[in-house]
Amino acid sequence: MDINELDALRKEVLKIVKKTGHYIYQQAGSASLQIETKSENSLVTLVDKEAERQLVSGLQKLLPSASFITEEGTVKQQESDIQWIIDPLDGTTNFIQNIPFYSTSVALQIDGEIVLGVVNLIPLDITFHAIKNGGAYEGEEKMKVSSKSKLENCIVATGFPYERNNIQNQLYQSFMQILKHVRGIRRLGSAALDLAFVASGRMDAYFETNLNPWDVAAGILLVKEADGRMSDYLGGDDFYSGSKIVASNRKVHDKILQLIDHS
Ligand code: IPD
Ligand code: CA
Ligand code: CA
Repeated sequence: MDINELDALRKEVLKIVKKTGHYIYQQAGSASLQIETKSENSLVTLVDKEAERQLVSGLQKLLPSASFITEEGTVKQQESDIQWIIDPLDGTTNFIQNIPFYSTSVALQIDGEIVLGVVNLIPLDITFHAIKNGGAYEGEEKMKVSSKSKLENCIVATGFPYERNNIQNQLYQSFMQILKHVRGIRRLGSAALDLAFVASGRMDAYFETNLNPWDVAAGILLVKEADGRMSDYLGGDDFYSGSKIVASNRKVHDKILQLIDHS
């Protein structure tokens, strides 16, 4: 797919994601969310599933040959050369609590490379989007990562995994080490938005463990296209799974890596 085809596809994906965003927003705070516990601390609602169905149905029409990897599994999960990677509602806990900070994340991966990414900050209807080699945008505005090089001036985002009993010490060590050296840490509750905020320069860096591909696929492209750096905790390329992920404005990346507990 060339860059013009990708650009045209992006416009259609944005329409679909925004439409689903309106649906999700209308349901926030509703008494009939039908909340279920998926695993320890991890909640899912009827809205997560319905939003996913809407996204799948729209995206299927755009690229009938593409397969899907989605968080809620409402469609057959299959890896293939062309696949959509979707988290219909990233920040479900915020959504349930009516904390207006949650998103939809949609990425398209072709031959193992993420070529299109959209993250929609639903309550503010702000879309962050990128296509490979086409730059990253917030709405119509081109995004660039921040330019800070001193860690002491940085705001760093992170998150805590739902299942954290076995890694409490690791989490604590990394958190405290980084906290000692930066201006502040934020835990906002949507990994896709944490990455979008690094891309837009609102955050200077971000690290998290135990995520999944659907949390990070779109955000990774945003950070890369905004001239940021992505890595795993050792500075390598093993970050697409979301298992250990660091994003930054490049300038403070190595310093963040030095402070993270790798044990
Ligand atoms: C969660 C959010 C959160 C992160 C969790 C994720 P969900 O996704 O991205 O920021 O800390 O680990 O699972 O469950 O709301 O889609
Ligand atoms: Ca998620
Ligand atoms: Ca989700």
